[in-house]
Amino acid sequence: MGKKKIGVIGIGKLGLCFALNLEQAGYEVRGIDINETYVQVINEKKLKSYEPGLEQLLQKTVYFQASTALHSVLTDDFDTIFVVVATPSPPDGGYDHQHVDKLAEDLIRFGKRNQHIDLVISCTTMPGYCNELADKLAPYQYKVSYNPEFIAQGSIIKDQLFPDMVLIGEADAASGDSIESIYRSICKNEPRFARMDRLSAEITKLSINCFLTTKISFANSIGDLCEKVGAQTDNVLKAIGADSRIGGKYLGYGFGFGGPCLPRDNRALNKFAQQNDYPLLLGQTTDEVNRKHLEFQIEWYLKSFDAEDTISFDYITYKKDSIIIEESQQLALAVGLARAGRKVRIKAQKIVLDEVTSIYGNIFHEMIVQ
Ligand SMILES: NC(=O)c1ccc[n+]([C@@H]2O[C@H](COP(=O)([O-])OP(=O)(O)OC[C@H]3O[C@@H](n4cnc5c(N)ncnc54)[C@H](O)[C@@H]3O)[C@@H](O)[C@H]2O)c1
Repeated sequence: MGKKKIGVIGIGKLGLCFALNLEQAGYEVRGIDINETYVQVINEKKLKSYEPGLEQLLQKTVYFQASTALHSVLTDDFDTIFVVVATPSPPDGGYDHQHVDKLAEDLIRFGKRNQHIDLVISCTTMPGYCNELADKLAPYQYKVSYNPEFIAQGSIIKDQLFPDMVLIGEADAASGDSIESIYRSICKNEPRFARMDRLSAEITKLSINCFLTTKISFANSIGDLCEKVGAQTDNVLKAIGADSRIGGKYLGYGFGFGGPCLPRDNRALNKFAQQNDYPLLLGQTTDEVNRKHLEFQIEWYLKSFDAEDTISFDYITYKKDSIIIEESQQLALAVGLARAGRKVRIKAQKIVLDEVTSIYGNIFHEMIVQ
């Protein structure tokens, strides 16, 4: 018997890493993307990426093929397709599912399949969306499951190989078993499998990030209070984290939460709760706390440094060793201080500094390429 074939639709930042990890686990994988030039670059193995390990993994591939031809994964020998297209956030929060909707229309246009296929949505979606999609595609023999990933850019490959937990919102037990077995072959650890219905899994995905924003906001609030009254912030937070009911992870005093995932998921959960007449006060408050913490930090720096001092930031991306400035609280702080008339020095890779300049102009005293 040949290798099991798996399709991955949307081979961007997340999907390509996942597709290549599947290939390493012994599957014959075909990646589908609408971006022709990008597909060609991948097939020629000339992709340049900031994601650690990705270029090397691509060089190692033997069977993996990228294509723009959706129908090439709709043949009977593919019985599982993962969908990893983008679901951007509109300004009022939530997730825009237009790329998944468009894909669904295309699948419907190709008609009813001869046999069932597992269509596994790995994009982040608003709770309830996957049930709607499942109803739409059921007459065409697609069984829709939801399986989001808990990864961070900068460690996607590693995060996919060593997850704490694999979340599966399953169409039925057979689909859940099949998805679980695929993960058992990819993962280099023994993750916990959390299997449930689709709606519950969609809520779980957003709630995990909402909990993290709550924990970070709590630590920063207690820290701000300690700083204000002259208490020993780090000692206080370390002691709190030593209680095993609480735990010390994500309980340090520092910058607010940011980046492409936590703020988005937090707001999406708030929006979903609001749509269902349940104001999620915690989720709303963490957003507010994050803003207040930034104001506190700006005040603190203004008080702690003299006007002629240069305030230096070793990184202004949302986390160290990243190139992402989306919702970066470090950058927001640096911008706040520069706008308050302070001399601010920022250090980052050239690509990051170029992006910063295109948004904020030349507000910084010094920009150092790292
Ligand atoms: N990148 C992250 O850090 C991260 C983390 C957690 C979850 N996610 C979720 O994963 C999903 C994918 O995110 P990403 O960052 O990889 O997005 P991305 O924009 O990097 O990649 C999406 C890819 O899908 C392709 N595409 C769009 N429509 C298509 C279609 N109809 N058929 C085939 N290909 C199509 C695009 O050309 C693109 O290459 C999103 O839902 C996102 O919320 C991302």
